[in-house]
Amino acid sequence: MVASQTLEQLGLMKHVFLTGASSGIGLATARVLMGCGHEVWGTARDPVRLPQQEHFHPVQLDLRNSSEIDGVFLRALRQAGHFDVVINNAGSGHFGAAELLSISEMADQFQILFFAPARVIQLALSAMRPRETGLIINVTSLAERFPVPFMAAYNAGKAALAAFTMSMQVELAQSRIRLIDLQPADICTNFNNAVPKSNHDGLYSVKTAQTWEIIERNLKNAPGPNLVAQRVVKLIEQASPAPRVTVGSAFQARMAPLIFRFLPQRLRIWGLRKYYRL
Ligand SMILES: NC(=O)c1ccc[n+]([C@@H]2O[C@H](COP(=O)([O-])OP(=O)(O)OC[C@H]3O[C@@H](n4cnc5c(N)ncnc54)[C@H](OP(=O)(O)O)[C@@H]3O)[C@@H](O)[C@H]2O)c1
Repeated sequence: MVASQTLEQLGLMKHVFLTGASSGIGLATARVLMGCGHEVWGTARDPVRLPQQEHFHPVQLDLRNSSEIDGVFLRALRQAGHFDVVINNAGSGHFGAAELLSISEMADQFQILFFAPARVIQLALSAMRPRETGLIINVTSLAERFPVPFMAAYNAGKAALAAFTMSMQVELAQSRIRLIDLQPADICTNFNNAVPKSNHDGLYSVKTAQTWEIIERNLKNAPGPNLVAQRVVKLIEQASPAPRVTVGSAFQARMAPLIFRFLPQRLRIWGLRKYYRL
């Protein structure tokens, strides 16, 4: 309480809108932000899954319902008065061979990972315009650069949001409103448990089973979501944060991107096939 009063008096207390605050990276971020004295408007499909505590304002939102996004955001905005920070974090993946994905499975991924966050960005921008200041953090994924096999629609949805973010960083060059593309590597959360899987018999069954095992092992051995939460707080505190940030183990988040940058595409694909034993 004292901390938040002090932050408020100093004009440092932030109003944050955060999607996907019920689990993993979003929940850890909400907790760290509240611990610093900030106010969080956090979303989930079922508000029962959200924290019930001071400084947290639960918001019900299903990103698949595109018609409800404007109303939900604007209601939260009216309550908050303004948002200093908007974080597009909510997301989920789909596991299945690209060759066999239905259009509706792909559309569902794009709705959750691209169309909904893109609309939230537009709403956030228009809310930040009168003050001409604010920060929008889009949680994409390192999968944008290192595609996970059998998660093609997920990789593509994240790549689309990363490209959208970069386009806006160029368009908003004269503005004090900033966007960040935050790309986590593997982070140990509930993410894999929420992944629906296509049922493949025959052609892909062995390869998908083998790949899923590797994906599961990587996630279990990955750093926890607090690593990302702490980075978010640092980004919020910085006057001029980096436009694209990777977070995760040293190998995945630092070494691999550095090596990848200088490799021809043929070698990148070879490396990924070796990594996933395909
Ligand atoms: N974990 C990783 O290794 C990793 C790596 C790179 C990027 N990411 C990204 O980080 C973000 C957070 O993932 P996480 O690892 O923290 O996973 P998580 O523990 O499964 O949390 C996902 C969050 O997104 C929300 N969500 C999922 N589908 C939604 C929908 N249709 N509408 C509204 N909210 C929805 C969930 O809320 P409810 O289910 O309660 O509604 C939950 O709060 C995602 O965008 C993910 O793609 C994760």
